[in-house]
Parts: sequence; C-alpha cells; structure tokens
Amino acid sequence: MDFSGNHILTIDQFERSDIDKLFSVADNLEPYASKQKITRALEGAILGNMFFEPSTRTRISFGASFNLLGGNVREITEAGSSSLAKGESLADTAQVLSGYSDIIVMRHPEEGSVQKFAEASRVPVINGGDGSNEHPSQALLDLYTIEKELSQNNKSLDGLRIALVGDLKYGRAVHSLCKVLSLYSNVSMSLISPEELRLPSSILNQLSESGVNFVQTENLEKGISEVDIIYVTRVQEERFTQKEDANRYRGLLSLNQSIYTANCEPNTVIMHPLPRDSRSDANELNTDLYGNPNLAIFRQADNGVVIRMAMFALVLGVEDQIEDSSRLVNWKVGLDT
Ligand code: CP
Repeated sequence: MDFSGNHILTIDQFERSDIDKLFSVADNLEPYASKQKITRALEGAILGNMFFEPSTRTRISFGASFNLLGGNVREITEAGSSSLAKGESLADTAQVLSGYSDIIVMRHPEEGSVQKFAEASRVPVINGGDGSNEHPSQALLDLYTIEKELSQNNKSLDGLRIALVGDLKYGRAVHSLCKVLSLYSNVSMSLISPEELRLPSSILNQLSESGVNFVQTENLEKGISEVDIIYVTRVQEERFTQKEDANRYRGLLSLNQSIYTANCEPNTVIMHPLPRDSRSDANELNTDLYGNPNLAIFRQADNGVVIRMAMFALVLGVEDQIEDSSRLVNWKVGLDT
C-alpha cells in the first residue's frame, strides 16, 4: 500500500508489510508522543478534524497527534454545528472542507459515509469511524498494543489467542480488529456475545477464509479461560433502533477480578477500546480490576497518539523528516512522584 497522498478508509487496505512499516514509524515517533522531543515536520499543515458523532479519544488524539507533529487543527464536533444541519450534502461538504485542509479525519454515524465523503475530497481522508462499519485507526492502535503487551511475555501476533466480548454485531472497533488479525497466522478467537449480537456473517466469512479458528459462545467464564487477550466492548446502544433492545443486553457480560482470577491464565491482558459503560447496570469492566497490572486499557488509549502520528507522517510523506526540526522539550512533563 502506498500511504503517501492516499485515503485510509478501511483496514482491508492493509497488508502485513504495511502494518510493519506503520509500527516502525510509530516506534521512531515514541519520543515525540511521550513529549521528550518536539518536531515541526508538519509546520503550516492543517488538519480538518470533522466529527459528526460524539468522541473523546479519537478526536482528541488525532488532534493532539497533528499538533505534536507541528501542524494546526480545525474542528467540527457535531453535525448540528455544521451546515449538514441545513441540508448540505456530504459531497459538497467534502469539496469545501478539502479546500481548507491538508488532510481530513472524519467520523459519521452512517456506514459508508466516510467513503462517500472521500470520493469528493481533494485531500486524503482518514476514517475516524463510520457507523457500525469500521474504525481502522482503532484497530491499528489495538494491534500495536497487543504486540507490545504480548512481547512482555515473549509471545507474538502469530499464534494469538483472543477473546472478543460484548456487542460484536454493532461494534466497529471489533469489526476492524477482526479484519486486521486475519492477516496473522494461527490466530484463534473466542467470540463471546449474546446470540443476537454476534459478529456479522461477512466478517465471520472473512475469518474463515483467512484461516482464523473461532468459536462463538455466550459463556464468559469458558470463553476467557485459554486466551492471551480479553478484548471487552460496550453495548452500542446508539446503533439500536429501539433503545429498550439495548437494555436487554446491558450487564450480561461483565468482567470483574474474581471472574478473572477464577478463569484466566496468568498475565492474560485485558483491553477495551473505550468508552466503557460504567453505569451500575452495565459495568462491563468492573472497577475492582483497577489494581490488576494486566488491565491495559489506558496504555491502549495512550497508544492512539503515536499510531495516529505515524498515520499522518506516512500519508503526508514526512516520515523521514521528523528529525530535521527535532529538539528536546523545554517544559516540565508530567507530575513529580
Ligand atoms: N475508542 C473510541 O473510538 O473512543 P471515542 O468514541 O471516545 O473516540
């Protein structure tokens, strides 16, 4: 895949060699993401950060990543604050916004909307999540996190055993993660969900065709017993046509420390794309897991910055220019401990 000057709309664009390249650029960018160093590689460039649906991590980390590379960010944070609310089409919106930006990140509640937008854009577009369809940058940061966490236990992505838990029907992060994991060998998946919230058949077919070994179950305890990673997700109630339907599933699959201790192998890593639903009737990841060193959810969220920096560097073709303007930071980073 040629990153430079191209859209990133689906994880299907990626081959293993592309992932290796992205992760190598991300590793080089770690000192910049962790604020040891500053670079001005994207000085003068403008990111159009167009979010027509709520977001905390994706919007802020894409924006922060662009700033950390020296660029500027212009944002829309809800459909109601843009002229889409006056009936303007996605195509016209793309024509206009691409005149103001060097690259655009877009999130929108409709499946396929980011693709449609990209077709009318004059600059590269990155999919920040389109309905229940895909969330490619989330899958890339998840994969980067899985690789880093596994390496601590001398394991690799080939041979990965992973449990995917929760709303596998509407969860776009899970859809993109399944697709990217199908690039690796000897992957086995335990797909734990209520029967009505199973993975779409198109993704199950893709897993089968790629040689991924999977089982589908509603039994959390059994499903998490022999895996390296447990990847928990929220019931995506905003995708349900009737809110009451979502209420039926909330809290059915809730992981806590005693379930973990009784069923998991030592060092099983717990992940979640976040946000997790912390309401008492949901609580898919109990707060009693906070003391568990294998709870990787905030390391995972942190990795969003370096992966998104690497995506920008490659798409805008500055991955070899990072060091040119590099210097050490001159402010105090973090808290005294
Ligand atoms: N993981 C994720 O997409 O989070 P946000 O919805 O907060 O961006």
